[in-house]
Formats: sequence, structure tokens, C-alpha cells
Amino acid sequence: MPHFVTGRCVGNKYTDCAAVCPVDCFYEIDNPPMLVIDPDTCIDCQLCVAECPVHAIFEEDEVPEPYKDWIAKNRELFANGTMINEKKDGLPGAKTLEQVQAEEKAKGWEIDEPRSA
Ligand code: F3S
Repeated sequence: MPHFVTGRCVGNKYTDCAAVCPVDCFYEIDNPPMLVIDPDTCIDCQLCVAECPVHAIFEEDEVPEPYKDWIAKNRELFANGTMINEKKDGLPGAKTLEQVQAEEKAKGWEIDEPRSA
């Protein structure tokens, strides 16, 4: 079961995930500004999950309800992206996990953190 990058990455793009991926399955896209995964290449090693400072990556079965759309969006968007396998600076104004969680809470979302984070 592959892993997917969710909306938690949008506007943050820390890229720690791409630097540890053994199969180069991360792609950088500009709209929205984030990385997405090619799910057919992902081997479920889970290494990326713990690397993400905002816990944006979830295994398919664990993707929280408000982020379910991102399963289809990763599949759709990676083909127009550029493969990335190194760390770059996060985006200016990138948020902390606490800030992301506070925004989710304000929307009334209850998000369980990824098991392997
Ligand atoms: Fe995004 Fe986290 Fe990777 S913010 S770029 S999924 S390290």
C-alpha cells in the first residue's frame, strides 16, 4: 500500500522526505507548492514519514478523512512534476507541526498523526 503526501505539505515543502527516498519517487510541483509521490514507484519503506517536520505523509490506509483527496491528487500531479532526491530549504514562512495542527483544529478536523512518524 503506497504512501501519499497530503495538504499538510502545501506551502511548507521541507523536502527532507525526498532526501531519504531509496527509489526516487518524490516529485516537486509548483501548483500547489509541494512534493507529491509517484505511488506506483513507492515501495512502502516508510523512511520519509518520520523525516517530515509536519507529518504530511501517510500510508494509504491511514490518510485522514479530510485529506483523502490527496490520494488521487498525488497520482494525477506527479506526472507533471520534476523528480527530486535531495534536500532544499523549506518555503519561506513554512509552518511548524504545532501551527499546522492548530489550523486543522480551527477547522474542526481531528487528525491522527501517522503511525510511523
Ligand atoms: Fe512536504 Fe514534508 Fe516532504 S513538508 S516536502 S512532505 S518533508
